[in-house]
Amino acid sequence: MPITIGVPRETYPGESRTAMTPRGMEMLSKKGVQFLVEPGAGFLSGIADADYVAKGARIAANRAEVFRGSDLVVQVRSLGANPEEGKSDIALMKSGQALVGYCEPLSAPQEAAALAKAGVSAFSMELMPRITRAQSMDSLSSMASIAGYKAVLIAAENLPRFFPMMMTAAGSIPAARVLVLGAGVAGLQAIATARRLGAVVSAYDVRSAVKEQIESLGAKFVELGLDAAQAEGTGGYAKAQSEEFLKRQRELLGEVVRQHDVVITTAAVPGMKAPILLTREMMRGMAYGSVVVDIAAERGGNCEVTEPGASVVVDGVTVIGPLNIPSSVPQHASLMYSRNIATFLNHLINKEGDLVVNREDEITRETLVTFGGEVVHARVKPLLGLA
Ligand code: NAI
Repeated sequence: MPITIGVPRETYPGESRTAMTPRGMEMLSKKGVQFLVEPGAGFLSGIADADYVAKGARIAANRAEVFRGSDLVVQVRSLGANPEEGKSDIALMKSGQALVGYCEPLSAPQEAAALAKAGVSAFSMELMPRITRAQSMDSLSSMASIAGYKAVLIAAENLPRFFPMMMTAAGSIPAARVLVLGAGVAGLQAIATARRLGAVVSAYDVRSAVKEQIESLGAKFVELGLDAAQAEGTGGYAKAQSEEFLKRQRELLGEVVRQHDVVITTAAVPGMKAPILLTREMMRGMAYGSVVVDIAAERGGNCEVTEPGASVVVDGVTVIGPLNIPSSVPQHASLMYSRNIATFLNHLINKEGDLVVNREDEITRETLVTFGGEVVHARVKPLLGLA
C-alpha cells in the first residue's frame, strides 16, 4: 500500500528551506504516495499551503499530526543537524517510521543513537555517496553550488570597488582580481559567478585534475609547484594533506593572495576540519578594503581569523564566515533539495508505493544510519563504541 510522506515545517533558527516542494511531490505522486504537510511548511520558500493542496497534499492540523499520520518524514534539518529544536521531534516520532534529512551523524552520533532508540529508520542526506548513480540525489553538491554563487555576491557587496572593468568618462577602472581557493563544487560555481560579474579570476586546488575545469571557466590555474601526495580521493573529493604540506602551501600562497582584492575559500576534505590556507600573517600584505569570504566557516574555516557566522575586519581586510548560505536563496535551494530528496525516495519506494530498505544497495546502505532499533552505519558505529 502506498506510504504517506510527512512534511513538517523546519524549526532550526534561520532555516528557510523546505524539504519538499509541490514540484518534488509531482515526481512521486505517480506511485500513489500521499503527502501530509504542516501548515506553513513552505511559507519561507514562497510556497503557500494551497500550492501543496493543488498537487494533492493534505494539510495537517499541526506538527504532531504530521508525524503521527506519516510513514516517512522528510526534513532539511533533522535531529543532529537541528540540535535544540530537533529534540522535541523525537517525542513525536513512532517506531517503524522512516526519516530522510540532514542528521549529521558523524558529528552528532548521540542523536543518531536517540533516533535508533525511538525505532526510527533514519537516512542521512549528507552521507549520499558521490557516485554517478546518485548524482541527482547529491544535495551537498546542490547546496555547495548555491554557496559558491552566493559567496561571490557577498564579496561584491562588501568590496569597496567594482567587480567589472569599466571605461567611463571619469576614467577607466580595472576589473577586480578574485582568487578562489579550493575548486570543488562550490569553488567552480564561485569562479563562474565571479567571471560573469566581470572579475579577473584565478583559482587553486590541491587536486591538479581540476586545472582543465578551472581554465574552461575562463580562470587562471595557480600552480604552486607543490607535489601533493595522492591529493585525489574518491568522487572528486580531496585527501587530507600533512601539516608540513599545508605549511609550505601557505608560504607559497602568501604572495598570490596579496595580488588579489577578493579571496573566496572553499577548501574541504570530507569528514575533517577545514584546512587552514590563509593566516593572519598572509593577509597583512592585502590591500586595504580587500574581502575574504570563507564558506568553509561551518567546518572551522580556511582562514585563521574567520569567525563562523560573523564578519570581522583585520588590518583593513574584511573576513566574512557565512553560515547556512543556501537558506538565503530559499526558493531555489528548496527546489534543488526537494528534487534530490524526491529522486532518492523514488529509489527507495517501489512501484506499488511501498518503502523498501534494501541494504545490499550501495545508495541505501551508505545513507542508512539507523534501522531496527540500532545504529547500523559503518562509519557511525565506531563513534559510539559499537563493534
Ligand atoms: P568539495 O569537496 O567539492 O570541494 C572542496 C575542494 O577543496 C576540493 O576540490 C579539494 O580538492 C579542495 N581542497 C582540499 N584541501 C585543499 C588544500 N589544502 N588546498 C587547496 N584545495 C584543497 O566541497 P564543496 O561541496 O565544494 O564544499 C566546499 C565547502 O563549502 C565545504 O567546506 C562545505 O562545508 C562548504 N559549504 C558551506 C556552506 C555554507 O552555508 N557556508 C554551504 C555549502 C557548502
